[in-house]
Amino acid sequence: MTSTGQSFDSNCMTLTRFVLAEQRKVPNATGDLTQLLNSIQTAVKAVSSAVRKAGIANMYGIAGTTNVQGEEVKKLDVLSNELFINMLTSSFTTCLLVSEENPTAIEVTTENHGKYIVCFDPLDGSSNIDCLVSVGSIFGIYKKLDDSGKATPSVADALQPGKNLVAAGYALYGSATMMVLSIGRGVNGFTYDPSIGEFILTERDMKIPKRGKIYSINEGNEKSWDGAIKEYVASKKYPETGKPYSSRYVGSMVADVHRTIKYGGIFMYPATKDNPNGKLRLLYECIPMSYIVREAGGLASNGERDILDVVPTSIHQRSPIYLGSEEDVKDVLNFIKDCK
Ligand code: AHM
Ligand code: MG
Repeated sequence: MTSTGQSFDSNCMTLTRFVLAEQRKVPNATGDLTQLLNSIQTAVKAVSSAVRKAGIANMYGIAGTTNVQGEEVKKLDVLSNELFINMLTSSFTTCLLVSEENPTAIEVTTENHGKYIVCFDPLDGSSNIDCLVSVGSIFGIYKKLDDSGKATPSVADALQPGKNLVAAGYALYGSATMMVLSIGRGVNGFTYDPSIGEFILTERDMKIPKRGKIYSINEGNEKSWDGAIKEYVASKKYPETGKPYSSRYVGSMVADVHRTIKYGGIFMYPATKDNPNGKLRLLYECIPMSYIVREAGGLASNGERDILDVVPTSIHQRSPIYLGSEEDVKDVLNFIKDCK
């Protein structure tokens, strides 16, 4: 029975409870994924607290310098990376980690080994940190290729195509903190309730609209876009019939993709003359976000193929990306095809 007296739900669906219930649906599940997702949840709660400048008295001092107590003040992205690495390596569920912040893959010590590989961006949207605009964390989880427990993991284990993902998700540190997660059976969103320190299921089975009215791209780069992208964006601004699309661009991938899932439309970071492979990273930006969008019923492409079919060749590889509502992504792909 659920009591909601004084607006208090005594039977709320927390993220932990949700993941446990999902685990029950998988015969022979060991509980490792639940444990792993719990460690990510803890990292996200701590990053959220830091982003919101909790304990501000201890943080006075410019990042990278010293505070009033003479202690070093860690930059938020460094702190977030440490939190993710420490929580993941001590969860006994991972063997290899790839972080945007580390040049090489991180091998988990043998005593702590588990079967999962996690690729993550601990704090994405770094240019927005100092002006208090939304930032996010992104993660994708794979299983080690050789699951016999004998072989030591290698970088090849992290270079799997997105279609092999076991789970992926993101945390958005916006006007509220939210975690959006898919373990391959749809997408669910959980809003952080600081009063009980738990993520609560607030968006069940999220679905992206088939078509939206918003395009999202850094238009300052227009001069170095391909003709197809110039033509596509022009077609949205100056349509032959109907109203033009609105333009929205936060400059934080998590915020831009979350809005795209909620309201529909398209998010793009195409190749430019300066960045022929685009800017965003395949392993811990493009692939996990594409997996979520696909699970929510949308499309995600690098302009030539489904992002989830691309086999990565290096851990920090970049990729152009076009993702969002099915019809909007098909539109831009038609422009790309026609321009070839
Ligand atoms: P970061 O990993 O250094 O934070 O860069 C990734 C971010 C994405 O969140 C965002 O979509 C993109 O960079 C914005 O780039 P730009 O400023 O070139 O538009
Ligand atoms: Mg990033």
